[in-house]
Amino acid sequence: MTTPTLRDMVDGAARLLADAGVGSPRHDAMALAAHVLDLPRIDLILPPPVPEGFAAAYAEVVDRRRRREPLQHIVGTAAFRYLTLRVEPGVFVPRPETETVAQLAVDEAARLVGLGHDPVVVDLCCGAGGIALSVASEVPGCQVWAVDASPAAVDLTRRNAAEAGVDPTVLLGDVRDPQLLSEWNGRVDVLVSNPPYIPPDAVPVDPEVRDHDPDLALYGGGADGLDVPRAVMAAAARLLVPGGLLVMEHAEVQDAQARTAAVATGAFVEVRTAPDLTGRPRTLVARRADTVGEPSPALSST
Ligand SMILES: C[S@@+](CC[C@H](N)C(=O)[O-])C[C@H]1O[C@@H](n2cnc3c(N)ncnc32)[C@H](O)[C@@H]1O
Repeated sequence: MTTPTLRDMVDGAARLLADAGVGSPRHDAMALAAHVLDLPRIDLILPPPVPEGFAAAYAEVVDRRRRREPLQHIVGTAAFRYLTLRVEPGVFVPRPETETVAQLAVDEAARLVGLGHDPVVVDLCCGAGGIALSVASEVPGCQVWAVDASPAAVDLTRRNAAEAGVDPTVLLGDVRDPQLLSEWNGRVDVLVSNPPYIPPDAVPVDPEVRDHDPDLALYGGGADGLDVPRAVMAAAARLLVPGGLLVMEHAEVQDAQARTAAVATGAFVEVRTAPDLTGRPRTLVARRADTVGEPSPALSST
């Protein structure tokens, strides 16, 4: 009997993962092989030699993935823009679609730095820190604050910051607290957030999300899931300087509700929806009005 090659083992794992309903079976089979081999990636055209013990270790991680444990929990990291973030059970796994949300904050911060300012950027509901750490690392000269209600998320963001070589201030806090960051009232230039926003009756279908992301990170509260996002808008109304930018992720079906809620605060102008990389309306963008109570004329979806 011939010994299976790395390619044989990856092919077999990809079939197992496909049968288990994993969305990207071949990618995950290769990522798990690279993880066990302690390589950044593998190339099956010139496969590396298979060390002793590989088959058993590979079978174990493939079985975990087959049971729909998130790939990022098994390998321990997630790529987010230019960063490799450590991820752990108990903290939301950063998603590629949030990279677009971070981009809007990075662009605004970079614009302000270009004008000679030292912008203050606040990431509410920071999770593993992807947005805050992207702004801090991509736009030197910003003062970055990151807040989350989960002690595990705060701890992980601090460790990810140290690994990324940046120094944001990371705080445990609740966005519904009207005193949160009150020393910055009216002085924040960019407030960015990917808060929880799933309604209680829209339990995610994918086991990776439903069974592994913490409920605190998924469900936004209230019948429409928008209680925490509305609290983010209220915090933005309080914290942003006139002209400051609010950028907030939401579900693709929540764009009109999010714009309506932002307008209802009376605190924002230029209220619009920005698309994600696949064109879905996923991000509320608005500027802090000069005075509260000013009605917003702009209600566009772009
Ligand atoms: C969808 S996750 C997003 C995490 C991160 N921003 C990202 O994009 O990967 C939402 C985060 O909000 C935090 N959170 C939930 N309710 C909160 C609240 N009331 N105040 C502060 N953070 C909250 C959760 O702990 C979780 O880390």
